[in-house]
Amino acid sequence: MTTLDILSQSDPEIAQAIRAEADRQRSGIELIASENYVSSAVLAAQGSVLTNKYAEGYPGKRYYGGCEWVDVAESLAIQRAKQLFGAEHANVQPHSGAQANMAVQLATLKPGDRVLGMSLAHGGHLTHGHPLNFSGMSYEIHGYGVNPETEQIDYEEVAEIAHRVSPKMIICGASAYPRTINFEYFHDIAKSVGAVLMADVAHIAGLIVSDLHPSPVGLAQFVTTTTHKTLRGPRGGLILCSADDAKLIDKTVFPGVQGGPLMHVIAAKAVAFGEALQPSFRTYSQQVIANAQVLAEALAAEGFRIVSGGTDNHLMLVDLTPFDVTGKAAEKALDRAGITVNKNAIPFDPKPPMVASGLRFGTPAVTSRGFGAAEMRQIAKWVGQVVRNINDSDMHARIRGEVVELCAGFPVPGQPDLTSTESAV
Ligand SMILES: Cc1ncc(COP(=O)(O)O)c(C=O)c1O
Repeated sequence: MTTLDILSQSDPEIAQAIRAEADRQRSGIELIASENYVSSAVLAAQGSVLTNKYAEGYPGKRYYGGCEWVDVAESLAIQRAKQLFGAEHANVQPHSGAQANMAVQLATLKPGDRVLGMSLAHGGHLTHGHPLNFSGMSYEIHGYGVNPETEQIDYEEVAEIAHRVSPKMIICGASAYPRTINFEYFHDIAKSVGAVLMADVAHIAGLIVSDLHPSPVGLAQFVTTTTHKTLRGPRGGLILCSADDAKLIDKTVFPGVQGGPLMHVIAAKAVAFGEALQPSFRTYSQQVIANAQVLAEALAAEGFRIVSGGTDNHLMLVDLTPFDVTGKAAEKALDRAGITVNKNAIPFDPKPPMVASGLRFGTPAVTSRGFGAAEMRQIAKWVGQVVRNINDSDMHARIRGEVVELCAGFPVPGQPDLTSTESAV
């Protein structure tokens, strides 16, 4: 009997939702740039009895008894994270990327301090200063963006704003930026104005640990990341810093912004970091980038305008303006065809974010299931057909059938046959 069978008996509604979601993940093409498929080993750690344990504090210094085994798990996660990123200190407790960013901001800023971050409209993240987020509510936010010609970060503009505004913190890193980020420039700008530099590498962490994108470790005083995107671990956050800042960060994460750590998730982070330390992870990351480049070229050949002319990483932004179709409409139509993407603002987008002129495509998940160049070209063809025939539901349904057929040949990691002993639960 599988764990899912056991769940089916005690809670058939939730079991059915999990089965259906597993089927959705298997039978569709997942192109959301921030998603991935974790391994069975990561799922096993995350779905383990470690969820039962309270462990406020840090290994060897807990507020609860019985922590000897969770201490082993957290110490391994810390040691592997440090090795992976070449950092002096790692805090593996943030429940999410947003909480990692919140902890660094609380550790270094006072309410009303000035912060310079990439604006959401140009690819930044909510936690970099959006008015509806804690960061935007607490600090005086100034934004930088991309150059209208190159659609790439304009480092001279960043320097000019930094000198004019004198921020206490500069944030680099993005959610929708397809190009290499020059952390040396950011380091120099921050140094010249005496600002703390925080690099949020949530999206590109897997590429950084694979040496396929420059690392901000040693250049930014604080590096934050999620663990679930290109890094292919469980959902969660991570903070890296120097030994000098270790105490400050640890006490801000707990008890500053969080209570008990999620020990099952921390164990799963340790497993994922261990996987990312293997040479095969670098091969995977190389394929993620190769696939993104083929997909961007093939989409351009279908008539789409690729923002900034291409991609250096795992994602691309596609401008739908030439087709007179909105991001919202394209996302819906592609969903009908079994292709999952998200609508996304393009730089200087005249449309509101919930409508948007673009789509964001990412290759981490499809690469995890073994898709290569041929599948990227096929996806671009389907995307072209759907967007050119945005209201043709029959065509979308036909493509959906072809998508299911293609996906059947590429098993999803971590989700072997749900009738086997290795289940998705
Ligand atoms: C750059 C960046 N930082 C932080 C986050 C927040 O991560 P989480 O959703 O785990 O809070 C994201 C998530 O998309 C992100 O893209």
